[in-house]
Amino acid sequence: MSPRHSALARRTKADTAAVAAQAAAPKARPPVIAVRRLVKSYGSGDAAVHALRGPEDPEGTPLGVDLTISEGDFVAIMGSSGSGKSTLMNILGCLDIPTSGRYLLDGIDVGHLDEHQLSLVRNRKIGFIFQSFNLVPRTTAVAQVELPLAYAGVRKSERRRRAMAALTLVGLADRADHRPNELSGGQQQRVAVARALVTSPAMLLADEPTGNLDSRSTDDVLAIVDRLNAAGRTVVLITHEDEVARHAKRVVRLVDGQIYEDIRQAPVRGLPPALLDPVEFASHTLHVSNVKANAIGGVRYSNFPGSDPPDPHADPWSAAVGARTVRGEAE
Ligand SMILES: Nc1ncnc2c1ncn2[C@@H]1O[C@H](COP(=O)(O)OP(=O)(O)OP(=O)(O)O)[C@@H](O)[C@H]1O
Ligand SMILES: [Mg+2]
Repeated sequence: MSPRHSALARRTKADTAAVAAQAAAPKARPPVIAVRRLVKSYGSGDAAVHALRGPEDPEGTPLGVDLTISEGDFVAIMGSSGSGKSTLMNILGCLDIPTSGRYLLDGIDVGHLDEHQLSLVRNRKIGFIFQSFNLVPRTTAVAQVELPLAYAGVRKSERRRRAMAALTLVGLADRADHRPNELSGGQQQRVAVARALVTSPAMLLADEPTGNLDSRSTDDVLAIVDRLNAAGRTVVLITHEDEVARHAKRVVRLVDGQIYEDIRQAPVRGLPPALLDPVEFASHTLHVSNVKANAIGGVRYSNFPGSDPPDPHADPWSAAVGARTVRGEAE
């Protein structure tokens, strides 16, 4: 072999080895959410309302909001009325666009996407839960849960199977043929949760999900959200109730369009507070008896001792909802 050929062969071998090493190395996952210098303003000039503004420079120009959320985290966004919670949620959910700033969702710069691409991202990456449930009238629970799968082009038999699995997880398999007006508020919200998780999205985004529920139904829905997060699902939940925010691993407080406080209540990796130490958690709740009595989908808290992280193979939640492993980047 000529010296030139052998040098080429050496280089090709080195390239192949580098590519193989890259393929074998576990890929560091990007944060589920990374927003930088996010500003949302309504109106202009002196009449402008900066719904999201962040800190200001010396001239009073908003510098925008920075926020990073890792895979597997459970974040409560709190703040008084008008502080910018829904504005932030609408941008994180790709339902609205910021006035300025960047937003990477699961590593994708959503600022570069057109309307069609945005709707695909919403369908595949985000499960929405709203205060008012947003169910389709006169449509059975199982058909509601199948809807996002129909948009995603999943065939009928597979849709039915996955929708029933999701309804089973929220304890409503026996209500599959019920329409919204035949379900209680708490049951309707559990159907909405099943609909949000059936596509195995990167993140669940919930705006005041318990705002219209009584304390018993609130506990039911939060117990489901806790279990989903324990199974690896990233959760971002907007609330103005301390009792709800206690369930989160991290609490971000907005004041006047700025992040005023960012408190970690439990590590990103691991169980959320209510499952980490259920007895201690329940002893501080106003609805102790409800929490203890809750049996969602036939599963009781006592089956999931807080000290034992759930085994993804033993835990039906992980398998059935296609949970993602918790690997969030270090903060
Ligand atoms: N479309 C709009 N046009 C003008 N101003 C708006 C618009 N939407 C929101 N705002 C203003 O932006 C600010 C933030 O509103 P946002 O809805 O995000 O508050 P919030 O924290 O969700 O409040 P709440 O707890 O009442 O739901 C408020 O001052 C509101 O009046
Ligand atoms: Mg709001």
